[in-house]
Amino acid sequence: SYEKLWLIASMVLIVGFIATITYGAVGLGITMVGDDEPTIEPGELSDDERFGEPRVEQVGENEYEAYVVAQTFIFQPDVIEVPANSEVTFYVTARDVIHSFSVVGTNVNTMVIPGEVSEMTVEFDEPGEYGVVCNEYCGSDHHNMEGQLHVI
Ligand code: CUA
Repeated sequence: SYEKLWLIASMVLIVGFIATITYGAVGLGITMVGDDEPTIEPGELSDDERFGEPRVEQVGENEYEAYVVAQTFIFQPDVIEVPANSEVTFYVTARDVIHSFSVVGTNVNTMVIPGEVSEMTVEFDEPGEYGVVCNEYCGSDHHNMEGQLHVI
C-alpha cells in the first residue's frame, strides 16, 4: 500500500540523516562513535585518578583514553597527542564554569559542564594538527581559550 511505502521512505530518510551525522567527519579521518555522561564533583578533580593528571593513556593495541580538563581559560593537557590509526575515547570535564571541547574542522564539539564528564570516542585515521577551542562563552578571555590536538 501507499502508506507502507511512505513509512519505508521516511525510515530510509531518517537512517540516511543519522548516517550523515555519524559519518560526516569521515573525510577528515575522524569518526564519532558514542557519547554519554558520567559524573564527577569539580572539587574532587585534583584527587581524581583520571583528571588529577590530565593525559592520554594507551589502553589497548590501538586504543587510547584522553582525560581532559577545561578551565578558564585553558585545556589540560594543552597539547593532546594521539597516534594515527587509533581509537581515542575522550573524557572531558570542567573545573569551574561551562566550556566546550571543540576540535576545529571536525564533528568533535561537546559542551563541558562542571560535575559532568562528556565522553566521546573518535577514530583517527590520518596524521594531522587541529586546534581545540571553547565554543561556550566562559569569561573575559574565552576567545583565547585554545589547545591543540596532534594526530601523529
Ligand atoms: Cu572556555 Cu569559552
